[in-house]
Amino acid sequence: MPLVGALIALPTGCGDRTRSCYHRYLNPNPQIIVLDAGGQYCHLEARKVRDLGVYAEVRASETPAAELAGAKGLIVSGGPSSVYDAGSPTVDPAIFSSGQAVLGICYGLQLMAQLLGGEVLRGEKGEYGMATLELDDTSDPMFAGLGGSRQIWMSHRDLVGRPPAGFSVAGRTATCAVAAMAARERRLYGVQFHPEVVHTAGGQEYLANFVFRVCGCVADWDPSHRVPTIEQEIRDAVGHRKVFFFVSGGVDSSVAFRLSTRALGAERVRGVYVDTGLMREGETDFVRGIGGLAVEDAREQFLGALAGVTDPEQKRHIIGEAFVRVQERVIERERLMDVDWMLGQGTIYPDTIESGGTAKAALIKTHHNRVAGIQKLIESGRIVEPLRSFYKDEVRQVGRELGLPAELLDRHPFPGPGLAIRCLCAPGGAEVKTVAEGSVIPIRSVGVQGDSRSYAPVLAIDALDTARATELTNRLRTVNRVIAPVETRVPVDRMAVRASSLTAERLARLRRADAAVRRLSHESGYDREVWQFPVILIPLGTADAPDSVVLRPVDSVDGMTAQSVVMDAGLLRKMCAAIFEIEGVAGVFYDLTHKPPGTIEWE
Ligand code: XMP
Repeated sequence: MPLVGALIALPTGCGDRTRSCYHRYLNPNPQIIVLDAGGQYCHLEARKVRDLGVYAEVRASETPAAELAGAKGLIVSGGPSSVYDAGSPTVDPAIFSSGQAVLGICYGLQLMAQLLGGEVLRGEKGEYGMATLELDDTSDPMFAGLGGSRQIWMSHRDLVGRPPAGFSVAGRTATCAVAAMAARERRLYGVQFHPEVVHTAGGQEYLANFVFRVCGCVADWDPSHRVPTIEQEIRDAVGHRKVFFFVSGGVDSSVAFRLSTRALGAERVRGVYVDTGLMREGETDFVRGIGGLAVEDAREQFLGALAGVTDPEQKRHIIGEAFVRVQERVIERERLMDVDWMLGQGTIYPDTIESGGTAKAALIKTHHNRVAGIQKLIESGRIVEPLRSFYKDEVRQVGRELGLPAELLDRHPFPGPGLAIRCLCAPGGAEVKTVAEGSVIPIRSVGVQGDSRSYAPVLAIDALDTARATELTNRLRTVNRVIAPVETRVPVDRMAVRASSLTAERLARLRRADAAVRRLSHESGYDREVWQFPVILIPLGTADAPDSVVLRPVDSVDGMTAQSVVMDAGLLRKMCAAIFEIEGVAGVFYDLTHKPPGTIEWE
């Protein structure tokens, strides 16, 4: 099966992440194009199509129909906007009369309905989570074999009230009268639910029906056995030069580094790991174990710049700037601007696309790219990104082909800004407020409730009840996260939020709690059951014990949606006991919030 699209060298002048850069260097003729309506799901939709063996790419939603004409089918993605918002994403309406098959998902369905003369209703309250779809048993190829009742995953506020003329309603749920609509002759379809997420039972079958039965695509993408091809591409791009990487210890940069080392030989590849002082216990030693990497000790620089800072966005900004300074120092010292060096990066496909809801992981990278030296390298095309057309799980597959250890490949993701964004701070003291639903904790945690990123207080309820948490975040727009105490030294309403910043003492407390949880997770095998397990420190406590710890295990496929999962009571008790051995901890809480509306990280 031919491999398509894995091109790696950036052309001159496309270093910025403008929307016009959507289709640079990748296959110019993908069979399926996903039009990005600002959603966190568009990458996943493209990935799911690739999993079916069909190459798909993401483009800006407003791309003119004429530029999309080569594709056999278009998917209009979901997104956080309402079609009634000023400036909300749209598509060229000509795509609906081009003769191409179009599938609108969530916001994509609403947009299709509105542009073709149907009616979209503003939702009074959101619907986030599981629902049961009743799908008509028709001969329509889009829904072949899928009739009857099935579990689906919803994440929406608005909904379609009346489909456009010529469309029929194909499916409904208890709360959504138009959960699927079809205009079979015109090959136009829309679904309110998300077939691309794992929580939709048989979700892949909806996409397979669209891709093969409706669009008539043929398999042209092999998601395995690609190492020799990538290595050849690296050699072609690098020529006689050498490559240096800033490696994070995560899967992407480690795989890209290893690929380059294999392709070019260790003497032509250099890797530097920056120790920020914001890493987990044992991390720097782990990274040393990857081999071939130099460690740049920048702990004092990072912690000094963060001293006394409490605002989450400011913390992220300072960390980004500190990375820039350290990189400049390394580049200068190692003379990496010399003509025979190129920059290697572990950029993966979702990182290459500008999209409000998903570009958080790119924050750090954006700062990296701003280092004058790096910017210059990009502009002159001296950059190698061997993984830029791959998704995370494809990268893991490549890593396995390379023989990298499971311990590295199966690591839970860890954010670039490190423990800094898991150690919440507060500019001053504040009281816990008792309300009918529970206790409002006045700390600001980030969420993605409809709009992209918003900070809101946290609600503590008294039971580990995720269904109740979902009901509350759907109903109360003022909170985006719900937690419950597992064990506390005093009742929650006798605790208070204390003025706090990123001190060495608090980071050490968080590092110990995180290490204890990771050890117990690993010993029990729980770390293989969950996708990620952040441990968060919040400044909620008493005079003697100023902080509390929040456990945030989540189930996910790619971090774009996630479910809070409640763990076994025995393991939870052990974790609690281990955490209470750490001085200064007033309570252990459990985060019950799915994503959306909460994010996985707390800042
Ligand atoms: P959220 O918190 O947005 O996280 O639900 C989704 C995934 O992204 C990771 N994450 C980051 N990774 N730099 C990173 O490299 C960041 O600034 C960053 N913020 C979030 C997070 O750990 C999760 O896997």
